[in-house]
Amino acid sequence: MKKTVIVTGAGRGIGLATAVQLAKDGFNIVMTSRSPEERYADAVQKIRSLGAQVLYIKADSADTATGEAVVSAAVKRFGRIDALVNNAGVAPKVRNDLLEMTEESFDYVVGTNTKGTLFMTQAAARQMVRQDYYDDEHMRDRNKGAIVNISSCSAEVSSISRGEYCISKAGISMITTLFADRLADEGITVNEVRPGIILTDMTGPVKEKYDRMIGEGVFPIRRWGRPEDVAMAVSMFLSDKLRYTTGSYLDVDGGFHIKRL
Ligand SMILES: NC(=O)c1ccc[n+]([C@@H]2O[C@H](COP(=O)([O-])OP(=O)(O)OC[C@H]3O[C@@H](n4cnc5c(N)ncnc54)[C@H](OP(=O)(O)O)[C@@H]3O)[C@@H](O)[C@H]2O)c1
Repeated sequence: MKKTVIVTGAGRGIGLATAVQLAKDGFNIVMTSRSPEERYADAVQKIRSLGAQVLYIKADSADTATGEAVVSAAVKRFGRIDALVNNAGVAPKVRNDLLEMTEESFDYVVGTNTKGTLFMTQAAARQMVRQDYYDDEHMRDRNKGAIVNISSCSAEVSSISRGEYCISKAGISMITTLFADRLADEGITVNEVRPGIILTDMTGPVKEKYDRMIGEGVFPIRRWGRPEDVAMAVSMFLSDKLRYTTGSYLDVDGGFHIKRL
């Protein structure tokens, strides 16, 4: 029987690439985005053409009721959930110096990225804990599910013109640690992917700046990251090959985290 994964913010960018990869891996896909399904009809069709069943849910991650609503719709359709990818995220609408950051921007970014991830994870974890163990063809271990959070290199790297984003991603890293600890003995792993600079709509407004930095060799691997680079890392964490790893993160950043002299 196919496993089921929820991918939040899967209409475009990293979330869409992840949903496509996981469909190739054999998952049925529950995808959420803020927009109505019509906007992403082509994306849904593409995933279906890979053999996956798809449930699209228009849902705002910043709303704390969304987690329970999405999980219950997923269970109604597919009977259980085996995996969750917390990908939905936003950058500040305006980049402002740390001394000018507004409460409104902080609430928007942290509310979507951090609070959204927390309550989605809580809802999915409650469901997974209630479920039976699934069959693990390699190890015969006690597995109930796997969760992957998409944080960012910004969980560690300071950007003083978008401090709320850095804070939101550092918060996600602690969510990874906390839930990995809480759920380890339940047969559920929780890991994290930290993308660097990935070519999507999110980085569109600062493309020139990052083009220049890539040209200057700031990133050891001298190219833009692609959504598919992140999707492959998620795929690995959700595979049955990584069942003794939890509370860990993987940098998908072209080596940006390396300290150099
Ligand atoms: N691009 C990068 O360089 C980069 C680097 C590090 C980390 N990341 C992280 O990777 C994730 C995906 O980024 P991306 O570059 O693919 O972004 P993107 O191209 O802007 O796409 C974001 C997706 O998230 C959805 N979304 C945003 N807010 C939402 C909300 N409140 N509720 C539900 N869905 C919501 C969007 O839905 P709609 O399409 O309906 O608006 C869209 O599908 C984010 O968490 C981001 O912080 C990105």
